[in-house]
Amino acid sequence: MKLVFATHNKNKFEEVKAMLPDYLELLSLDDIGCSEDIAETAETIEGNAILKADYIRKKYKLNCFADDTGLEVKSLNNEPGVFSARYAGDSNNANANMEKLLKNLEGKQDRSARFKTAIALNMEREEIMFLGICEGEITEKPRGNSGFGYDPIFQPNGFNKTFAEMTLEEKSKIGHRGKAMRQLIDYLSK
Ligand code: IMP
Repeated sequence: MKLVFATHNKNKFEEVKAMLPDYLELLSLDDIGCSEDIAETAETIEGNAILKADYIRKKYKLNCFADDTGLEVKSLNNEPGVFSARYAGDSNNANANMEKLLKNLEGKQDRSARFKTAIALNMEREEIMFLGICEGEITEKPRGNSGFGYDPIFQPNGFNKTFAEMTLEEKSKIGHRGKAMRQLIDYLSK
């Protein structure tokens, strides 16, 4: 069965492809000749995942899944959430995003936060949503050099390391994206 992963991100694509059973032929957006960036105009993380998967399903008539992730900080009314990539402007600058978040949290007691990954699967006869959540807190300062985005300031509950101080394997085991991906893979393997 052919299945499209609606992403232009080669790292994400290879990571997921390695986890899937052989009978699934995973195709990237490049593989199906889709070079455009699908606009993420929904108001929620789930909405953006659905929007991307639906777009591909309708336009190319292929089974497809898409993901979207955001960081929700409790005392900031769940910001940056769906705006995580663009929190400090359109350039998706991780340092500027982290700086803005730390500034907005100054003086707040509650630093709890969670990462949420939504994966929308859109197949001919079914549409299913998988959610992966990782609870934690925002540190006072960035720590560690691995990962990307907000990793240096996010410490998952039960650990004294930030995501950026973990290996990719450690992070995938407990992280939001790994949790959502494993649900998708379980479902597709059945
Ligand atoms: P995307 O939906 O995976 O492109 O994620 C949107 C934005 O959320 C990224 O640009 C990052 O700023 C942030 N983000 C997503 N996943 C992670 C993560 O695992 N660690 C840190 N930041 C992340």
